[in-house]
Amino acid sequence: MKILVVGGGGREHAIIKKLKENPTVEQIFALPGNGGIASDATCVEIGAKDIDGIVEFAVAQSIDYAVVAPDDPLVLGAVDALEAKGIPCFGPRANAAIIEGSKVFSKDLMKKYGIPTAAYEVFSDMDAALQYLETAPIPTVIKADGLALGKGVIIAQTRDEAREAVRSMMADKVFGCSGDHIVIEEFLTGPEVSVLSFTDGKTVVPMISSMDHKRAGDNDTGLNTGGMGTVAPNPYYTKAIADECMETIFLPTVRAMNAEGRTFKGCLYFGLMLTPNGPKVIEYNCRFGDPETQVVLPLLESDLLTVMQAVTNGTLADTEVRFTDAHACCVIMASQGYPTAYEKGFEITIPETVADNVYVAGAACKGGKLVTAGGRVLGVTAVAQTLDAAIREAYARVEKITFDNAFYRHDIGAKAMKAGEK
Ligand code: AMP
Ligand code: GLY
Repeated sequence: MKILVVGGGGREHAIIKKLKENPTVEQIFALPGNGGIASDATCVEIGAKDIDGIVEFAVAQSIDYAVVAPDDPLVLGAVDALEAKGIPCFGPRANAAIIEGSKVFSKDLMKKYGIPTAAYEVFSDMDAALQYLETAPIPTVIKADGLALGKGVIIAQTRDEAREAVRSMMADKVFGCSGDHIVIEEFLTGPEVSVLSFTDGKTVVPMISSMDHKRAGDNDTGLNTGGMGTVAPNPYYTKAIADECMETIFLPTVRAMNAEGRTFKGCLYFGLMLTPNGPKVIEYNCRFGDPETQVVLPLLESDLLTVMQAVTNGTLADTEVRFTDAHACCVIMASQGYPTAYEKGFEITIPETVADNVYVAGAACKGGKLVTAGGRVLGVTAVAQTLDAAIREAYARVEKITFDNAFYRHDIGAKAMKAGEK
């Protein structure tokens, strides 16, 4: 089979390495891929948002199956366009990807169908939003409606910060038209859990739970990032909580999307907060999370391509999706300065002994050498029988990889270790 994977980050690298385990896979193309992915797939210089380019390439190459991994092409309708040419795909159509593409849509969906989430108000008028903030409980959370590279959420600790956030989104348009509508919502507390799930629109199969580490610095200090590391499973996510989430969140969401005529097929990501009043949805993503995928897929024992095809064909109920009961830890190595300004172009050295456990994100090939080309450069994963061993092994591997200006968090998994001891 000839497979096409749209995207070019650590998540896509993890997906590609897993897909390669299937013996029927002859060739994988990554659009655009990256310098590290090039060791595992044929990278083609077509951007993930270039829907026409992607479709043209897929048709010309007679692609048998396509996996659309990032949010942008999904929201832009890459799956619809590929399916129109008869190419089966993994990923939701645009009318279902809106569950991530519009926060107003997802909040209204949850309200309509009684799915637990933070209380909220929607505003398209800045004066009305500012008026509301005069009496809103503080801290409060301000969210731009549309995609904003994961940066469209501001947690305001004071009324002034809240006003500033509203003005920056609605008047200064820092997130462009994503800020035409905003959501102002209740500030929730509790441990966060990421649950990725496979769904064919009928059956939901949650993958192993995970814990992201969003802040740039140790002990959750510094700016929010795309994610600096993950562990799986998440010790806060007990069997009882998983059962409750299935009943109150996962199945109701899939049914709600069906009832709206927006059947979701693909990976539906539930960003949950385990509040004192029960689990609530913080966000939905219409795709695999990154770096969650870099710990979840290494724990998947079943064949990924078979599971993905079952999602596409609507036969997930008859397909085994098995995870090992081991633990995984992923440490992201980033460029000093990320998530703001950083330098690029430093040579990366990855010894042969750890290469299998590295998922490359921001790196390019220059003159036969791998060099840094992004903020998050690569993820280093380890799987072991205990969380402690997985963390130690991941860091031992990190020590073996070098590039100038590298930085990483030293405490990935520390919170999970503490929670596990309780
Ligand atoms: P998001 O970009 O939607 O993933 O949000 C980024 C982060 O903001 C989440 O991972 C949470 O830590 C935090 N967050 C979002 N919404 C809320 C909320 N209602 N209450 C507390 N924290 C929130
Ligand atoms: N790690 C969170 C995300 O992929 O959005």
